[in-house]
Amino acid sequence: MIEVHRVTKTFKDVTAVQDVSFEVGRGEVVGMLGENGAGKTTTLRLIATVLRPTSGSIRVDGLDVTEQPRLVRRKIGILFGGETGLYDRLTARENIAYFGKLYGLDGGEIRRRTEELAERFGMTAYLDRRVGGFSKGMRQKTVLARSLIHNPEVVLFDEPTSGLDITSANVIRGLIREFREEGRTVVFSSHISGEVERLCDRVLILHQGRLQFAGTLEELYRSRGTADLDAVFMQMVGGAV
Ligand SMILES: Nc1ncnc2c1ncn2[C@@H]1O[C@H](COP(=O)(O)OP(=O)(O)OP(=O)(O)O)[C@@H](O)[C@H]1O
Ligand SMILES: [Mg+2]
Repeated sequence: MIEVHRVTKTFKDVTAVQDVSFEVGRGEVVGMLGENGAGKTTTLRLIATVLRPTSGSIRVDGLDVTEQPRLVRRKIGILFGGETGLYDRLTARENIAYFGKLYGLDGGEIRRRTEELAERFGMTAYLDRRVGGFSKGMRQKTVLARSLIHNPEVVLFDEPTSGLDITSANVIRGLIREFREEGRTVVFSSHISGEVERLCDRVLILHQGRLQFAGTLEELYRSRGTADLDAVFMQMVGGAV
């Protein structure tokens, strides 16, 4: 579903991602681990067509991200941390609908999907309130619903549970499990090794822009002789536990 082939991304003198190749099959859940600055967000943004590779190529469902970014965008839902881009003066429903229109959905479809998603995330009570007064978790759920309005086959989540309370983080983890059952393809980054262990079919470990490992946790543990993900991670990035 996702094919990353020898991708390098440089920003002036900084090489964020260097000669990275991996594939993600349809319906797979893949977790991305790496220290701060390892290139996780950059990799996700490259797949999401937000950035263009300096060299190499990326395909999503056979479509080249550089040649057909609009078609690729229709297939993917993205959730990135930091700036959410929500309009404070609009309600949650209006914010979600705005994205629905960008994806070319009609009014009825937008309404149906919005209510379905609001139900799923327990946000029906505040769906018609202005986003301006929302808490962090309420905003996060609004952004989540917005990113899923077009029912994407591929979901890219950058540190989706970062900064959320235990309940909201569990909602996201539950959602990732549901995505797998629905046959969606998921790639997410995380700094929480337990989260990766519980959710992923395969893991990618990035270090200083290079891919150190791509495979199942069992393969990783077997190759390193321990089933302690934190210890394996520290071995790979060159530190001690
Ligand atoms: N727009 C940009 N301009 C310049 N440098 C950038 C830009 N985006 C990323 N970088 C650089 O690329 C490298 C990788 O950054 P990236 O955000 O991908 O790391 P990350 O693995 O997501 O880290 P974190 O865990 O802190 O989120 C860093 O050195 C960063 O400074
Ligand atoms: Mg990041």
